[in-house]
Amino acid sequence: MPELRSAQWYAGPDRNAYIHRAWMRRGAPNSAFEGRPQIAIANTASDLTPCNSHLDEIAEHVGRGVWEAGGVPLNLPVVSIGETQVRPTAMLWRNMAAMATEEMLRANPVDGVVLLGGCDKTIPSLLMAAASVDLPAVVVPGGPMLTGTFRGVPLGCGTDVWRLSEEVRAGTLSQAAFLDSESSMIRSRGHCNTMGTASTMGLLAEALGTVLPGTAGTPAPDSRLLARSHETGRLIVEMVDAGRRPSRVLTAGSFHNAIVALAALGGSTNAVVHLLAIAGRLGVPLTLADFDRIAADVPLLVDLQPAGKYLMEDLYRAGGLAAVLREVTDLLDPTAIDVTGRPFVESLAEAQIYDSEVIRTRGAPVSPNAGIAVLHGNLAPKGAIIKPAAASPHLLRHRGRAVVFDSVEDFHARIDAPDLEVDADSVLVLRGCGPRGYPGMPEVANMPLPTRLLRQGVRDMVRVCDGRMSGTAYGTVVLHVAPEAAAGGPLDRVRDGDWITLDVEGRSITVDVPDEELAAREPSAALRAAVARPVRGWQKLYVDTVLGADTGADLDFLVGSSGDGVSRESH
Ligand code: FES
Ligand code: MG
Repeated sequence: MPELRSAQWYAGPDRNAYIHRAWMRRGAPNSAFEGRPQIAIANTASDLTPCNSHLDEIAEHVGRGVWEAGGVPLNLPVVSIGETQVRPTAMLWRNMAAMATEEMLRANPVDGVVLLGGCDKTIPSLLMAAASVDLPAVVVPGGPMLTGTFRGVPLGCGTDVWRLSEEVRAGTLSQAAFLDSESSMIRSRGHCNTMGTASTMGLLAEALGTVLPGTAGTPAPDSRLLARSHETGRLIVEMVDAGRRPSRVLTAGSFHNAIVALAALGGSTNAVVHLLAIAGRLGVPLTLADFDRIAADVPLLVDLQPAGKYLMEDLYRAGGLAAVLREVTDLLDPTAIDVTGRPFVESLAEAQIYDSEVIRTRGAPVSPNAGIAVLHGNLAPKGAIIKPAAASPHLLRHRGRAVVFDSVEDFHARIDAPDLEVDADSVLVLRGCGPRGYPGMPEVANMPLPTRLLRQGVRDMVRVCDGRMSGTAYGTVVLHVAPEAAAGGPLDRVRDGDWITLDVEGRSITVDVPDEELAAREPSAALRAAVARPVRGWQKLYVDTVLGADTGADLDFLVGSSGDGVSRESH
């Protein structure tokens, strides 16, 4: 075993080592400080992050494995973000959580870390932190909840909220029945059971190589997750011994594999910003264009909500991530290693599909090409994305007149106004919802359709926004438009009635206004009035330093790594 980082706190007879050891004793034996790896369990368990509230039990089992392998497990509660609870939007706090976790890992006598996450922003923030401190790190994804049913029909978290609430607005479901479904949706511990952001990021963490293979996607209440947690505890001690750090595990090949997985799974569009941000911490040169290029030949193999039918419990039963990726092994990078130190692709060798309705074979995919399309044009010079699998085929090539909203509040105030000039061919534009503008880039891009059009049977329209869309949502929605309107992107000069053309196959999103005319227009005054101007605290730091969605919406000074160097002693 190489010299441990924690030895700089605990080794030797001097007064400072005495202080560090003494306050940590509380029943710990002498041997705890004699060359045993100190393993932090970065734990996002919180009653206010209900999707992660069971992680204390996971931590307990990780700890058993750490002890067994000769390490010392140390529970480290870290900033936790409950997607459905926090305001103004969970994404505003992702970078704050990443920064706080990174600094606490570096500041403490820690040799390695097990990262416990689940709900949407928690795994991304933990991986960003681990990449920047570059201590040996492994993730245990908390796992999805079990399938809930309502009136005999499975309910998908998130997705069915959108669907049922639109049914109420369309007049085809009663308000009472809608409220009745509420208690059926969240059936057990765990995170959302659709292929939303939490499921996607748990599975992608494994495809990246940061999870003990075979763990991600295990339902939260399944006791096999506890066994995997125990094994992960043993693994992290070995990783410390081997010096297996994120900078060694997470290479360009790992991100390539994650993007293949994202496409084959039909994962959340939010993964794009998260993967870009994690890569930015490691100096891996990942760009938006890589998503389009790598995913172009990947078939969609998984039939899960929101784009499809099934839920995460079905995916696990059908063979899980390994069965999906085994079908596309030839598209994966064979050199990328995982936390075990072996090539990630080796972990797929034994995988099998047990239900080919849920996980399709390569020969009979849900769709021959899935993934994320990256669009450019005079409306999005730095890019925008769309998830074709969640869109309506008839709208993938569309021309319509803009109906523009300058804020979420403006949208809600006017979308059902009788005098709003909107029809099924209109393009709904919502701006001021980027990282800087809102602030925090909320999931508002999948704007609800006008009630009047819903009643006429319209179920989808082209929508364009500089914000994000919930991973559990669907529709023909152009997202992450960059630069955002509040940062001077051309979206801030679009006007009602402008013709907008979406051409997904041609990878373009344009407004039919000559460049000189667009440049000469004044940005919307209503937009400028709506944009956030915080004067202190985290929000001020955030709006002053946040980067665009096209590079992952990290803070400019958090990009990169500072390593795990031990700083000076103050005693
Ligand atoms: Fe936590 Fe969906 S709200 S994962
Ligand atoms: Mg979400």
